[in-house]
Amino acid sequence: EVCDVMVVGSCMTDLVSQAPRLPKAGETIHGHKFFIGFGGKGANQCIQAARLGAKTTMVCKVGKDFFGDNYIQNFKDNGVHTDFVGQASDAATGVASIIVNDAGENAIVIVAGANMLLGSEELHKALPAISHAKVLVCQLEISPQTSLQALRMAQENKVKTIFNPAPAIPDLDTEFYRASDVFCCNESEAELLTGSSVVNVEEALRAGQELLKRGCGSVIITLGPQGCVVVKAQESPSKHVKTTAVTTVDTTGAGDSFIGALAFYMAHYPTMPLEEMARRANQVAGVSVQTVGTQISYPFKKDLPAELF
Ligand code: RIB
Ligand code: NA
Repeated sequence: EVCDVMVVGSCMTDLVSQAPRLPKAGETIHGHKFFIGFGGKGANQCIQAARLGAKTTMVCKVGKDFFGDNYIQNFKDNGVHTDFVGQASDAATGVASIIVNDAGENAIVIVAGANMLLGSEELHKALPAISHAKVLVCQLEISPQTSLQALRMAQENKVKTIFNPAPAIPDLDTEFYRASDVFCCNESEAELLTGSSVVNVEEALRAGQELLKRGCGSVIITLGPQGCVVVKAQESPSKHVKTTAVTTVDTTGAGDSFIGALAFYMAHYPTMPLEEMARRANQVAGVSVQTVGTQISYPFKKDLPAELF
């Protein structure tokens, strides 16, 4: 069975505290709500693509523990293929401690655990599936070598690749750019990767050009309420894609919702202009920021306007 979107990436159990503001070093503050959710950038992106109607497969590693068992059930509940979801007995399921303030901003510490044990052995087992996928998506919450190897395997098999360099590392191997058909990051990641400020549309367009020169097919830099910029290698000028204003409650995982949606559009509408895919992905992610949590806030196809499909 051919899969539309394949994600090689992370799973994390999100431990989320809502508080009026983020604490300073050495400080204790009272929060007003705590909840546990399914997160991790890889899984988030996969779940969003699945909820829009993509046939999805996840390649990842969780622990042989309560969080890991639960996570596998979560994939099944969302219709994600779990043949390549492994369970490590020598590491725990990844966790993310998240604090969300009243402005909807967050601070996150991840302990990747079992995610770091995903390696070439698992990729080789998944290769027959990877080679038949339409789109492959990777991030940086697993070992970088594993992500790069997966992207290369996809490219060798003419599978379109989306790479999300998150969380960003300053000296990203230039091979990642060459292995990315679409290189998609947010403003702070773009800042870290280029070493220049990215706080407005002009600076994002400049950063996009700079990243593009490193060898990827196209660059998308997401800008929250300002939408995103799309910079393409062939023809056409760079574009600022605006988005509609929404009331923000929690932006955690909004970037993942955007990327999951982008992967869905690339798989289902391969000839659609990238700017149009980005415009629609902005709409999807815009829904996710209006309620708390990551995956729990991701819309299903049935919740969205028909013109997005
Ligand atoms: O991008 C959001 C995600 O980052 C959260 O779900 C958390 O798990 C961290 O990995
Ligand atoms: Na949300």
